[in-house]
Amino acid sequence: MYQGIFEIKENRKIAKDVWQMDLTSEKEIGLRPGQFVEVQLDGYYLRRPISVADATNHSLTIIYKVVGKGTEVLSRMSKGNLDLLYDLGNGYDLSLSGEQPLLIGGGVGVPPLYYLAKELKKQNKEVSVILGFNTREEVFYEEEFQALGCDVTVCTADGSYGLKGFVTEGMKEKEYSYFYTCGPLPMLKAVYNNSTTSGQFSFEERMGCGYGVCMGCTTKVKGGYKRLCKEGPVLNKEEIVWED
Ligand SMILES: Cc1cc2nc3c(=O)[nH]c(=O)nc-3n(C[C@H](O)[C@H](O)[C@H](O)COP(=O)(O)OP(=O)(O)OC[C@H]3O[C@@H](n4cnc5c(N)ncnc54)[C@H](O)[C@@H]3O)c2cc1C
Ligand code: FES
Repeated sequence: MYQGIFEIKENRKIAKDVWQMDLTSEKEIGLRPGQFVEVQLDGYYLRRPISVADATNHSLTIIYKVVGKGTEVLSRMSKGNLDLLYDLGNGYDLSLSGEQPLLIGGGVGVPPLYYLAKELKKQNKEVSVILGFNTREEVFYEEEFQALGCDVTVCTADGSYGLKGFVTEGMKEKEYSYFYTCGPLPMLKAVYNNSTTSGQFSFEERMGCGYGVCMGCTTKVKGGYKRLCKEGPVLNKEEIVWED
């Protein structure tokens, strides 16, 4: 884990309640797909965890939905600096993808999959993507994934755009060697129950410290416990225990 000051280059709305912020760092950062950052906001003791949507040696993109006071403050920042903890979490293991990985994202579970898709395409993998949203005005990043050369299916629950239904509808149409997913818990459970191969799940649950100290994110896995912020947020399908 590192702490650094990042400069805000741009902060713009890309869909209903969803914003994209581009940041740069003077220091080299070197982040992996599936990792996250912890954002410090004035007046808030707890930092907010947000996934790395894209990164280079000196730049970082985050995509976030305004759901409460912290993310609302973030959406109003157009210039200045942001204090981040970075290099947090294990990230996705790309070595297991096989030749035809399928990426399945729901809502603000989509952002970490963009950086993952980019890295998998660099390895010449045949990447398919399913993006799930409630409705048309929430859809984002379809074209960005297409520009990477991915085969993209968008699903909306109300059928106002793309395929009508949940991401599991899209999964029926895809052939894949392995999968990676991120999204709300009910979606992750549905993907678990409908998937035909092994895969990795990223859990965007509530966190306290975000770097392994408070134990607030401890979750049961097969054979023991893991801190989602440290040994997660990515878990392998085989180790997941669904608790009610
Ligand atoms: C590893 C990780 C990665 C994440 N990546 C992203 C991301 O890329 N983009 C993004 O938009 N969000 C992401 N989140 C969720 C994000 O951290 C929360 O939405 C954010 O902290 C809310 O802060 P707030 O102050 O606006 O809301 P608060 O005022 O803290 O809460 C407002 C409402 O949102 C709910 N809420 C808060 N946190 C979460 C959460 N983690 N999951 C579900 N509901 C929550 C609360 O229960 C409450 O109803 C991630 C979370 C984790 C743990
Ligand atoms: S959030 Fe504190 S240990 Fe994971």
